[in-house]
Amino acid sequence: MSAKILYGKDFAAQIKESARAEVEKLKNNFNLTPGLAVIIVGENPASQVYVRNKHKTCEELGIKSEVVEMPASTSKDELLKKIDELNADKSINGILVQLPLPDAIKNHSEEILNRIDPLKDVDGFHPVNVGKLVTGSPALVPCTPAGCIEMLDLAGIEIDGKRAVIIGRSNIVGKPMLHLLMAKNATVTVCHSHTKNLAEVTREADILVAAMGKPKFVTADMIKAGAVVIDVGINRIAPKKLVGDVDFDAAAEIASAITPVPGGVGLLTVAMLMKNVVTAAKLQIGA
Ligand code: GUN
Repeated sequence: MSAKILYGKDFAAQIKESARAEVEKLKNNFNLTPGLAVIIVGENPASQVYVRNKHKTCEELGIKSEVVEMPASTSKDELLKKIDELNADKSINGILVQLPLPDAIKNHSEEILNRIDPLKDVDGFHPVNVGKLVTGSPALVPCTPAGCIEMLDLAGIEIDGKRAVIIGRSNIVGKPMLHLLMAKNATVTVCHSHTKNLAEVTREADILVAAMGKPKFVTADMIKAGAVVIDVGINRIAPKKLVGDVDFDAAAEIASAITPVPGGVGLLTVAMLMKNVVTAAKLQIGA
């Protein structure tokens, strides 16, 4: 069998188009131009690329974009003060602090992220938004897992009643993915580095999500014939070579559908961020 390849750009284009239409409506009906502020501290080259990409996508969709660049020497208090300013700024509907933070303030990441007004928390990382997701009234949901669910919906892949297995239990992907899949009536198992007989578990998956950050870790023998394989991993194995958490070529022989890396899930994240900015703006005006 040869799997259908789920290209991120096709789904990202559809998600962005729907965000663009929502932006138009907010402008026409409420005289509101949604605004996103992205704070980047220091000069991490990968983060700079991601932030530029977010800025460009905002401009494409008519969202106001403010990139706040702060030096690597920024103190925790200076960063908190900046977040307070943006929380109070009516022209800003979404706030995102690009991670990772520089080493000097990294251990304060939680306190820093928790300072963002939950209504402006377009990353969906604030405990209020995590709690809403877990209790079944999602407001702002982390972009990468939310993008994966959108993609499955847009591709017409049924989730209801399916066995889903997630490898990886991060706060950004694995844990929110569990709740999103469960809310869609999948039966979900979360595996991690202490899971025994991992391949036995993953072979039960109709939908397999790889999100543990180990290059080509998921091999063909771990996949059930006809499974849908979603690869959230982005691993740089050489200066110009990115691979996912799945051994793509071998997996594509067994799966019914699979996302590539690069060119897969990564492109959905920015598109979903735009949707979250729109959602945040609506939440703030009660629309
Ligand atoms: N760095 C890598 N991924 C992310 C993300 O989803 N959100 C933020 N804020 N920073 C990131």
